Amino acid sequence: MRNDDRRHVAIKRKAVMTKSGRQIRRAIRHPDKAVRYGMRKVRQALFWNRYYDAVRDPKAKTRVDMDPTIQVDVVQDLKAARFEVVDYNIDMSDLRSYLARACYDRYPDYCGTDIGRLPEKTLEHYLAAQLLELSPQDVYVDIAASDSPTPEIYHDLYGCTVYRQDLTYPSGVHGNMIGGDAASMPVADGFATKMAMHCSFEHFEGDSDMRVIREAGRVLRPGGRLCIVPFYLRNHYVVQTDPCVYPAGNVQFEDDALICCTKGWGHRHGRHYDVPHLRARIVPNLNGLQLTIHVVANEKAVGQSCYVKFIGLFRKTVPRQADWPLPNSFLAERKAD
Ligand SMILES: C[S@@+](CC[C@H](N)C(=O)[O-])C[C@H]1O[C@@H](n2cnc3c(N)ncnc32)[C@H](O)[C@@H]1O
Repeated sequence: MRNDDRRHVAIKRKAVMTKSGRQIRRAIRHPDKAVRYGMRKVRQALFWNRYYDAVRDPKAKTRVDMDPTIQVDVVQDLKAARFEVVDYNIDMSDLRSYLARACYDRYPDYCGTDIGRLPEKTLEHYLAAQLLELSPQDVYVDIAASDSPTPEIYHDLYGCTVYRQDLTYPSGVHGNMIGGDAASMPVADGFATKMAMHCSFEHFEGDSDMRVIREAGRVLRPGGRLCIVPFYLRNHYVVQTDPCVYPAGNVQFEDDALICCTKGWGHRHGRHYDVPHLRARIVPNLNGLQLTIHVVANEKAVGQSCYVKFIGLFRKTVPRQADWPLPNSFLAERKAD
């Protein structure tokens, strides 16, 4: 065996051992999750085809891949439809500095046993932080945060006040947790200055993708920003699903979406917009937000497993002075004139 081959075998063996070590550690810490995972794997092995049959047509047994040729076409379609599209180059040394300061090894359970996802996830967190330009004056809400460490990391690195929000949290506001549907949050207009959705927006089922954009327009202060990363765009309207993670018929798909059923994906719903659906679903709900789509040029330079290509940055417009409500004293003066 050549030295190179020996090194590769050793690296692979170490990765497998690390993965099984993490699996065992995680199963001990979260026995409930381990049981649910085991049951899903059994269902998948025995009944996946039956779950697939229960999904309505048109559908396909496939994963929605990140095809670079399709992405080039999408950029052309976006420009033709007059969306604002700008190139984004990741600054590698700035990313390395973010990762060193964020200390992700403080969160050993993040990404579960699938540490292969960490380069992509941490890159998404970095990209959102850059585009949001976080500062100590900000009130940041991490929408559909699940168990993400980003609120704590953003607080530590940028000094902002942070909230985490998710459908699975107890409803209402409890400390820095906001529970319930992100499309109707129990907070006042202008509550937040910055928001991000990392790997979340695609999970918003039914019409909640449209409603959450409208809600962001209400909850953000003028000048505020929402960053959606990745922003999944494609040349056809598709929804990816793993049909064995929910009872048959429990997810409602729009009639005009192709359903891509992906064995082992482990999630209910992942929406990818084509340009006509972006125009029909998002544009009418901007509610005072302006959308810029950033196209990442060099995600593969971070790691071959990285795939983020599009980022949606929504900015809440600052009203022009002429649109501001005029103070009563001013109106009274005019009357006196
Ligand atoms: C893949 S997880 C999010 C991952 C997380 N943001 C991260 O970066 O690690 C998707 C989350 O979206 C949440 N979700 C789906 N629909 C939602 C809604 N309408 N309101 C709030 N959260 C929602 C789910 O509960 C789930 O926790």
